[in-house]
Amino acid sequence: MPNTVSREDAIAMDANDEFSHKRQEFELEDGVIYMCGNSLGPMPKKAFSDMEKTMKHDWAKGLITSQNTAGWFMMTDILGDRVAKLLGADKGEVVVTDATGLNIYKTLHAAISMQPGRNTIVCETSSFPTDLYMIEGVTSLLRNMQVKLEGRDADNIEDLFNSDTAVVLLNQVDYRSGEIRDIKGLTAKAHAAGALVISDVCHSAGAIPVDFHDENVDFAIGCTYKYLNGGPGAPAFAYAARRHHGKFTQPLTGWHGHAAPFKFEQSYRRAEGARALLTGSQPALSQIAVGAGLDVYEDIDINKLYNKGKKLSAMFADLVEEWCGPYGVGFYSPRDVNRRNGQVSLTHEHGYPVMQAMIARRVIGDFRQPNVMRFGIAPLYLRYTDIWNAANHLREILQTEEWQQDRFNVQNLVT
Ligand SMILES: Cc1ncc(COP(=O)(O)O)c(C=O)c1O
Repeated sequence: MPNTVSREDAIAMDANDEFSHKRQEFELEDGVIYMCGNSLGPMPKKAFSDMEKTMKHDWAKGLITSQNTAGWFMMTDILGDRVAKLLGADKGEVVVTDATGLNIYKTLHAAISMQPGRNTIVCETSSFPTDLYMIEGVTSLLRNMQVKLEGRDADNIEDLFNSDTAVVLLNQVDYRSGEIRDIKGLTAKAHAAGALVISDVCHSAGAIPVDFHDENVDFAIGCTYKYLNGGPGAPAFAYAARRHHGKFTQPLTGWHGHAAPFKFEQSYRRAEGARALLTGSQPALSQIAVGAGLDVYEDIDINKLYNKGKKLSAMFADLVEEWCGPYGVGFYSPRDVNRRNGQVSLTHEHGYPVMQAMIARRVIGDFRQPNVMRFGIAPLYLRYTDIWNAANHLREILQTEEWQQDRFNVQNLVT
């Protein structure tokens, strides 16, 4: 007997969902099943009204005075404090600024600046590529630095921690599979070797409970455009633990990271705290959208939200296994729901056209080389019936071989 749920079960689960009202806070068209919030979250309705107000009032009327009156100049910190609350940090430890990659670059330098005599950066071969590229950028300047990678230089990352390790850059959640790493355990091991840890939380912020203090990481970076729904290209964030404030330097020493930007001094003097990770002017309109994304989380218990995400994720995996397994669909994500952030990544020989056929049916996920179909599970707006319907669409596409149509086999730039 199959143990998967029926459509009626899914309808009943939606009726009992304590987060069902949250979907209305997003611009999501009827009929769209959005399973790409692990890449770009949908638009919170409030982002539109907030940005409109900013444009019509603060920009059009307030002009430059809005740097003070609308708080633009300090938005890096105002938003940073709100992100901190969500991720188990204190006020003053997080700034919202720049792209994630830039923040990786700055925090790598910051950590290295605190570790004289240590000349190794440790990371994962499976890391999001930009993390590895940024490490390459850092080592192209700091010629004495070498890189050791899990998956190339050792099977287990902890075997690479030693007295030469300056910094360990870890992805808390793997972008391809959604697998969660034991950041707390690995950080303890890295610290025991005297290394510092940077946690990349792009795929965990807003998806799973994150607690920088409990995990004891030294620095962290992450983006706001995925599960935090801050909008395309929204500024990212950077965390520096208070114990390190005033002790690190980073090379992108722009005036916003200066201790007194409006004194216009000729030499750089580092700002207090996490502000030392700032560089220059930030996109106020995008910052407003980040605020609207954070508003959605204001009344949310992240532990409860994560539990709903696990139920959705388990349901999707069970249905897909039963219905689509016979058509060559396999699991790239860990099968155990407790080991993933909700995301379900599936393999199929024709994963790319299958995903295009799903998108044509308005079930939106994405594809990663060579054969991985990623389905993001964001419990803020996904319903149990969406999950049931998405699995059913996948089954139909495979059964009918709809994916064979030429239009689904055209390679897009963004997959
Ligand atoms: C884990 C991870 N790190 C870093 C990045 C890069 O982010 P950005 O484009 O903001 O530099 C991404 C983007 O998806 C990511 O998933």
